[in-house]
Amino acid sequence: MSQCSRTALLVGSNMSDLPSTMLAWTKVRNEPDGFELIEHPVPNPGPNEILVKTTSTSICGTDLHIWHWDEWSKQEVPLGTITGHETCGTIVGLGSNVTSHKLGQLVSIECHLADWTCQRCKEGNAHICENGSIFGVHTNGAFAPYFTIQATNARTTPEGLEPGYGSIQDPLGNAIHTLTGGPIEGSTIAIHGLGPIGLFAVNAAKALGAKMIIAIDWENEYRMDLAKKLGADMVLGKSHDIIAEILSATEGRGVDNSCEFSGSTAALSNAIHSTRMGGYLNVLSVYGNPNPPVPMNDLVFRYLHLKGINGRKMWSTWDIMEDLLSRNEIDIETIVTHRINWKDFQDAMRLSKNGQCGKIILDFP
Ligand SMILES: NC(=O)c1ccc[n+]([C@@H]2O[C@H](COP(=O)([O-])OP(=O)(O)OC[C@H]3O[C@@H](n4cnc5c(N)ncnc54)[C@H](O)[C@@H]3O)[C@@H](O)[C@H]2O)c1
Ligand SMILES: [Zn+2]
Ligand SMILES: [Zn+2]
Repeated sequence: MSQCSRTALLVGSNMSDLPSTMLAWTKVRNEPDGFELIEHPVPNPGPNEILVKTTSTSICGTDLHIWHWDEWSKQEVPLGTITGHETCGTIVGLGSNVTSHKLGQLVSIECHLADWTCQRCKEGNAHICENGSIFGVHTNGAFAPYFTIQATNARTTPEGLEPGYGSIQDPLGNAIHTLTGGPIEGSTIAIHGLGPIGLFAVNAAKALGAKMIIAIDWENEYRMDLAKKLGADMVLGKSHDIIAEILSATEGRGVDNSCEFSGSTAALSNAIHSTRMGGYLNVLSVYGNPNPPVPMNDLVFRYLHLKGINGRKMWSTWDIMEDLLSRNEIDIETIVTHRINWKDFQDAMRLSKNGQCGKIILDFP
């Protein structure tokens, strides 16, 4: 044990009550799935870290990439990593330098780890820190009953929020960050792709005063029904001429703000052709095809603002989100369709893969 962790043990007064080992879902094999529930020591917080007892960790599309073990995952995730990055829990240990947080606090995690010293961090873009990494992707994360993280990355869970719902702030924050790349209040908005993040975006756009929300998926009727329930004004799918329908709903102009959450290059092209002249196109998606065909001339002549979106702004996105959550504006119960015991991780991954779900939360009872 290092000197740092000894100090942490002294500071975290109830840490002696904690187990010394835990089981955690770990990516152990160089193959699809390749996860095992194996024993690890309960980690000790470094001087600027906290130790958190996990309340819930939700399943993200990124976790599915890691489960499939695609090229991106092979490059990014060291074998032996405990993955899982959308999480929340209770602080049960404090590093020796931590004065910003208290034992017993409920916290929700921002997974983008930043150095807070580079130019990007100093200009307010810590989510794209030049020396950044992602908790639960590059480092051990939260498909485990305990984890450590820099105290800076732990936000107090909004009061009144059911503690297990704290973990949805990562994808809800992605949705809000994407929407805020363009106008929202009084604006027409198209949401392409109704996975969990697209569904959160439908809900958040409504809560933030959008004039009209057009929600588009391809053939996932389950998610299209959820979008209707969340108040989308129009829901489109593969049986529609998507561009023509959006143009006709907006007096031939196109929407003010298109958000792309599908990862489909067809949807990207649809979005370019159905955003109004001078409008905004915000892309959160990661494309399976790393060189997607983009109708560039339409983008140019339509004078579109095209923005790539990554993570959440630290901390303006979180502030907007906390305001919405504290006013009970987000219908989490509709978007979280499944809550599963964390030991049944493999069932949750299979469900996530088949897509007959909204957000899936793993609970750590
Ligand atoms: N940039 C970031 O920081 C970041 C963070 C998280 C997720 N992501 C990416 O954001 C995207 C959304 O994540 P998610 O977990 O909500 O997605 P998901 O993969 O669960 O859902 C995508 C949805 O798009 C639908 N779809 C497929 N083709 C379509 C088309 N042509 N038009 C409209 N919809 C179509 C699918 O049916 C599915 O319901 C993913 O690409 C993910 O990799 C990016
Ligand atoms: Zn995620
Ligand atoms: Zn930085």
